[in-house]
Amino acid sequence: MAGDKLIIFDTTLRDGEQSPGIALNVVEKIEIADQLARLGVDVIEAGFPISSQGDFEAVEAIAKAVEGPTICGLARTNFADIDRAWEAVRHNDRSRIHVFLATSAIHMERKLRMTPDQVKAEAGAAVARAVGYTPDVEFSPEDATRSDVDFMCEVLQIAVDAGARTLNIPDTVGYTQPDEFGRLIAHIAETVRGPDDLVISVHCHNDLGLAVANSLSGLTNGARQVECTINGIGERAGNAAMEEIVMAVRTRDDVYGIKTDVDTSQLARTSRMVARMTGYPVQYNKAVVGRNAFAHEAGIHQHGVLTDKRTYEIMDAEAVGQSSEIVLGKHSGRHAFSDALEKMGLKVQGDTLNQAFIRFKELADRKVQITEADLEAIVSEELGSGDDAWQLVDLVVAGGTGKTPTAQVEVRRNGDRRIAVEEGDGMIDAACRALSAAVGIEARLVDFKVSSVTGETDALGDVTVQIDADGRRVSGRGVSTDVVEASARAYLSGLNKAVRISGILEDSPTAGETGP
Ligand code: KIV
Ligand code: ZN
Repeated sequence: MAGDKLIIFDTTLRDGEQSPGIALNVVEKIEIADQLARLGVDVIEAGFPISSQGDFEAVEAIAKAVEGPTICGLARTNFADIDRAWEAVRHNDRSRIHVFLATSAIHMERKLRMTPDQVKAEAGAAVARAVGYTPDVEFSPEDATRSDVDFMCEVLQIAVDAGARTLNIPDTVGYTQPDEFGRLIAHIAETVRGPDDLVISVHCHNDLGLAVANSLSGLTNGARQVECTINGIGERAGNAAMEEIVMAVRTRDDVYGIKTDVDTSQLARTSRMVARMTGYPVQYNKAVVGRNAFAHEAGIHQHGVLTDKRTYEIMDAEAVGQSSEIVLGKHSGRHAFSDALEKMGLKVQGDTLNQAFIRFKELADRKVQITEADLEAIVSEELGSGDDAWQLVDLVVAGGTGKTPTAQVEVRRNGDRRIAVEEGDGMIDAACRALSAAVGIEARLVDFKVSSVTGETDALGDVTVQIDADGRRVSGRGVSTDVVEASARAYLSGLNKAVRISGILEDSPTAGETGP
């Protein structure tokens, strides 16, 4: 009988990072992993170590630096993958290897070009190899929901017999429906024999918008691990959103009767951090962490909430960390500033702290109330840029009715200072062209989004862009009370990311290998 503890397996840094345009560097990944540990997740899937040198280094760095959660590395069934995954995760006291192999006919025939017997043999050998390194081995039959159920159960049994202690059932293409998936999980729980501590896990994608519903159905039917990502980011339409699952089981304890160790008051901050670093914004009406998730517009609702919040609220905004507590103002000094950052769990030191403090002072001159979200936004921009990135020193734009918009930019990297002037279709276009000219990278803006960090008229403008640079799609983010400056910062952060990825790939002996 499954117990009442639900294991939260976060795959933001692996499946989430497979979203188009997301390319986090090692520092950003460690920062997210630290925050996930603070949030109280049980397992962090930190990456797919064989896929690139950058991924290997990130998983290894997280395994060395992050305490608390189990650190997991993904591997295909070939021994090189498994050995590499172990090499990366072995530094942590708690490390897991996650081995996957497809069991659906279409994947076996068209992708793997393997017979069912070969799949069985390979699954057993791979799990045995991983168990040679650690007892904490997870096995996933990829595309489980389009697999022949009896065959898949045979493969699962082989994996358990070889020593796997977690069986993860992926709905790889987001195909299944809640009732059907629940029945599948119940069938596996009845059919596959294993030790008492064998855990069944669910991993659902959101192609039909059912990832959370399907995951919950799996939990009702005996699964005790859920694989999910912050904000539901992931391949194509994404993975199941952790914040929704955690709050569903907490709010409806009467239905699920299971508990997580997540500190839910960290959910909003984690969501903002992931949105900021990935460049994937959170929709305003997103459940739990969207800006409007606790906003009441209709008069009748407002009246009800003022009388008793429970009339229209099923969760407390504070319970998920959604309160815009004012932290600092114009007269706050450096000490108060770094103190506030520390309380928020942001580790900022040296030059980055100096730069962030300058940005904070500039902002305090333009904006009366500075919230946690504002601080996070400016500090993360400074943290994200790193020492070897191009910095925006100066931006001057000019234009007007009947005049050609022009922009002059000055950028700096270490001792190198460059100035460029360009014209454009608008001031933002001119600024982007000038930045490309100064940095020496041709790029094309493919997506541009602007929103505000908070709700006031003097709010920080928050710009996320996706650019094609050097044949690579990358995202960038910038904040400023001036939208043209925020756009320039976002564009420059995208250019910096493109430079960084090119550097990593050039260094990588396994560059170009495919993901799952
Ligand atoms: O969706 C999927 O099948 C995966 C596996 C690697 C578990 O991400
Ligand atoms: Zn997946």
